[in-house]
Amino acid sequence: MTPRLWPEGPGPTEAALDAAAALLAAGPVAVLTGAGCSTESGIPDYRGEGTARRARSPVRFATFVRDPAARRRYWARAVVGWPRIAHARPNPAHHALAGLEASGRLSGLLTQNVDRLHHAAGSARVIELHGALHEVRCLECGVREGRAALQARLLAMNPGLAAHAAGAAEYNPDGDAELPEALVEAFHVATCLTCGGDLKPDVVFFGETVPRPRVEEAYRCVDEAAALLVAGSSLAVLSGLRFVRHAAARGVPVVVLNQGETRGDPLATVKLPGRLGEVLPALAARLGVNASCAPASSSPP
Ligand SMILES: NC(=O)c1ccc[n+]([C@@H]2O[C@H](COP(=O)([O-])OP(=O)(O)OC[C@H]3O[C@@H](n4cnc5c(N)ncnc54)[C@H](O)[C@@H]3O)[C@@H](O)[C@H]2O)c1
Ligand SMILES: [Zn+2]
Repeated sequence: MTPRLWPEGPGPTEAALDAAAALLAAGPVAVLTGAGCSTESGIPDYRGEGTARRARSPVRFATFVRDPAARRRYWARAVVGWPRIAHARPNPAHHALAGLEASGRLSGLLTQNVDRLHHAAGSARVIELHGALHEVRCLECGVREGRAALQARLLAMNPGLAAHAAGAAEYNPDGDAELPEALVEAFHVATCLTCGGDLKPDVVFFGETVPRPRVEEAYRCVDEAAALLVAGSSLAVLSGLRFVRHAAARGVPVVVLNQGETRGDPLATVKLPGRLGEVLPALAARLGVNASCAPASSSPP
């Protein structure tokens, strides 16, 4: 059985829910989501309570580019971790946000997640700040390859990993999973089909910056909004926190919905504790949106 990946604690009071709904009803809402949005879909976060045992140090961009052993380790573990991402389904939190957008209440959705679950739930204006694991890019020629196609190539080159990729692994955030070092060392890495260059998932690694046009679109989305709703992010990373600071500096109210403290709490107009899969549908219902009417889940693009 999959262990529970989200922290438990008291939910918000009715008064806090009412106060948040009143702020979000005033006009278009920009939403910023983080890993907490996907824990109920079986994808671990980084910094939730109880996440310490999964603590890890993800590969940095410079190391990945420079060091063939780091790339081999990344891809070997990613082959095992990918199925968890590929098979994950959106949960009621994703559906509530898609329902809010469909009802015309959102200016857009900024996500730090790389799992495409907002798309799968039917959200349309999604800015993937950190990219998505579903695309792979050649570091030499820039050609892209779908992750599913690359997974098939990697499994064909490393048939011994098929059983590990089929399950029973210990999963980490970002499509990473535990794998014995001997298997990492024996792993064959695939290269670009066009030029033979090294491949990198099209996600923003630690030590890498978010492309400027993407950041600017995200700021525009916040500028168009009458309120900012943060859902399931510790805001420990500046790449998300800056949008909260931007909104607060403009006098735009900020609602932070997260189980556990966030770095944005001092800037929050209303802070709601609680489990996203429960509280987001409740919040949507107060805004006249029945999340069960959200578009049926479909495969990610
Ligand atoms: N699903 C994904 O795509 C994924 C998963 C892990 C990490 N990441 C990457 O790692 C970074 C992590 O930063 P972050 O701020 O997004 O995540 P984080 O792990 O730092 O913070 C998640 C927060 O959500 C809370 N939380 C977890 N599950 C919850 C639930 N069901 N209900 C309410 N609260 C819940 C946790 O207590 C924690 O405070 C991002 O840059 C992201 O790109 C992505
Ligand atoms: Zn290439």
